[in-house]
Amino acid sequence: MVISMERWHGKVAVVTGASAGIGASIAEHLVKHGMKVVGLARRVELIEENAKKLIGEKGELHGIKTDMTKPEEITNAFKMIEDQYGPIHVLVNNAGTIEFTSLSDGEVEDWKKTFDLNVIGLCVATRDAVRSMKNSNIDGHIIHINSISGHYPVQCAGVNVYSATKYAVTALTNDLRVELVEAGTKIKVTSISPDLTVTDLARRFHTDIDNMAALKAEDIAEACVYVLSTPPHVQVHEMMIRPVGSRF
Ligand SMILES: NC(=O)c1ccc[n+]([C@@H]2O[C@H](COP(=O)([O-])OP(=O)(O)OC[C@H]3O[C@@H](n4cnc5c(N)ncnc54)[C@H](OP(=O)(O)O)[C@@H]3O)[C@@H](O)[C@H]2O)c1
Repeated sequence: MVISMERWHGKVAVVTGASAGIGASIAEHLVKHGMKVVGLARRVELIEENAKKLIGEKGELHGIKTDMTKPEEITNAFKMIEDQYGPIHVLVNNAGTIEFTSLSDGEVEDWKKTFDLNVIGLCVATRDAVRSMKNSNIDGHIIHINSISGHYPVQCAGVNVYSATKYAVTALTNDLRVELVEAGTKIKVTSISPDLTVTDLARRFHTDIDNMAALKAEDIAEACVYVLSTPPHVQVHEMMIRPVGSRF
């Protein structure tokens, strides 16, 4: 199998939640592999700071301020991307949140916020990216940043509704794959499911994370590069990544 990022050189990749953590690292890696990356997040100033650090690399990074819980903002951002940078070849659905909540005593607002971002935002971005790919006849690639929590119940208090959203991502990955085949496209879809990864999100739950077995954001970014590098006929459907010594 010939592994190469060459076919993506100069092409547009959208990374949601590119202002921090795993998304920031994915954006950086894709720029270094020559892609024109547009990052979507509320803290667009963080993406712009990273863009300055990446000047001189093979690709480029741009940011568009977008609240991924607001469908109309997502669709406007995708329109701007097509107008300014061209049709979309790669979408990485990375933006996600964990609201620490309880099933027996939690707030509906926290549950809705988690579903709005982790599930509905992902669906809207996917729809808009697939429309762009189909309109321009592009054999693109959609990557969902899922979680081990999307495959079995992880023993971690408070991540109940989060797990439900990630189980939804597991189902949506296969649903999308089948839809894309039935539509006669060669667009790929991949779910990447990390175990504990050192980011701001994980630190909120594990204050002792520096003493735990954990992945780095760049481990997930490198996995993204790998799945994108596979030949056109090869589709990595699911990639679960654990740190050696994981307790989950
Ligand atoms: N860290 C882990 O242990 C771990 C493990 C498995 C899976 N994951 C998954 O990996 C993905 C990234 O998580 P992370 O750990 O890198 O988290 P993080 O460091 O908290 O970063 C989250 C990113 O999502 C963006 N985001 C949050 N709410 C948003 C909103 N309403 N609109 C737009 N963007 C929003 C944030 O940007 P703004 O705040 O600037 O909007 C930020 O860029 C998530 O899907 C998460 O479920 C993480």
